[in-house]
Amino acid sequence: MTPPSTTDADPVEDAARANALRDKLVDALMASGTVRSTQVEAALRTVPRHRFLPGVPLDLAYANEAVVTKRDDDGASMSSVSAPVIVAMMLEQLQVAPGHRVLEIGSGGYNAALLAELVGADGQVTTIDIDPEVIDRARLSLAETGYRRVRVLCGDGEAGAVEATPFDRIIVTVGAWDLAPAWLEQLVDGGRIVVPLRMRGLTRSVAFERDGDRLVGRSVELCGFVPMQGAGAYREQLVWLHADDVALRVDDGQSVDAEALAGALTSPRVQTWTGVTVATGESFEHLDLWLATAMPGFGLLAVRRSAIDAEVVAPALSWGCSAAFEGGTLAYLSLRPSGADPGTGRKVFEFGVTAHGPEAKRLADQVGEQIRAWNTGHRGGAGLRIEAHPAGTPVTLPAPALVIDKRHVRLTVSWA
Ligand SMILES: C[S@@+](CC[C@H](N)C(=O)[O-])C[C@H]1O[C@@H](n2cnc3c(N)ncnc32)[C@H](O)[C@@H]1O
Repeated sequence: MTPPSTTDADPVEDAARANALRDKLVDALMASGTVRSTQVEAALRTVPRHRFLPGVPLDLAYANEAVVTKRDDDGASMSSVSAPVIVAMMLEQLQVAPGHRVLEIGSGGYNAALLAELVGADGQVTTIDIDPEVIDRARLSLAETGYRRVRVLCGDGEAGAVEATPFDRIIVTVGAWDLAPAWLEQLVDGGRIVVPLRMRGLTRSVAFERDGDRLVGRSVELCGFVPMQGAGAYREQLVWLHADDVALRVDDGQSVDAEALAGALTSPRVQTWTGVTVATGESFEHLDLWLATAMPGFGLLAVRRSAIDAEVVAPALSWGCSAAFEGGTLAYLSLRPSGADPGTGRKVFEFGVTAHGPEAKRLADQVGEQIRAWNTGHRGGAGLRIEAHPAGTPVTLPAPALVIDKRHVRLTVSWA
């Protein structure tokens, strides 16, 4: 069903309501600490997000949610206008200044308009999308809202945008598995690129600064994005563990004994508890990255509700969780209730590890030990450093560190 058009309402009343809803949304983003700079705040208060979402009711256009604008034949999202919280978070990571030349990869119009506000009259924004339909829509809405100076290109962003190079800032708004050589080449030295990068199946928005031929990570945030199409597309491996409701997602070409693992869940369950707790609403995204660094075989357990209800698996979250694998043994994160925080009254949960397979006890203990190590030294991401070097560059890093060889870069994830 097509949502009712906002144009049916009185345009003056509509504009006033849109302004009020927009201010409320920005107030909430500031209260949560997502928006920290006056520049990003001003841009968000100025750009009429609803005008980039024609036909979408105002309440939805100003909800803190992504709006899917295109799906593939199986219903998977191919294009969307990202959730305001993600848009704002990435703009803060990007640190745009007036006069900057900025490239956005993955268009929609809205974020390009925000960038146009941030670079001002002396700057230049170029946005590129692989999908001609998305480009037509972005071009139209940017023109209608007065952002005619934004250069809108149709093409594979893997090659950057040679016609507008060099850039002081590049923002990739589609899930990337690798860092394309063109991005580094087209970025000035000392320039910044913010990219939702997939590492061991985990997507993190990383703000990198260019330092010669390497990129040095300056901030890392949790995010989710539709995967990149075109030359940069990369599929992870899916190992089915139970019917059609439990699978292990294995990324970065890690070697996995799919046949041995496929039988793991039929062997007895071993559980171990760690004494490490987390409160409701508290993110433990850095634990995932820590385990990906510390465990030689790391994947994501993806589950459907039916498998939890049938007690086939007990993952930490309803969609799944981090998992370690070794031969035919699997060990994944679980949580159990552990009372409430006396200060805040929030419910508290204890981390545990559930394991199956010939080495279940040993692998569960090993993961449990790593959960405790994260809790002691790296909660909140303390000491995390991500760098990208040209493929094949020799690197020596003190443990714990993870080296991921992508097609174009050698990525290092280390913890001081
Ligand atoms: C989340 S949307 C971008 C949202 C947008 N920045 C906004 O302002 O709303 C991701 C976009 O990336 C595009 N995309 C996917 N692969 C691409 C590629 N290789 N080059 C350029 N665009 C790509 C998709 O067509 C989709 O429109």
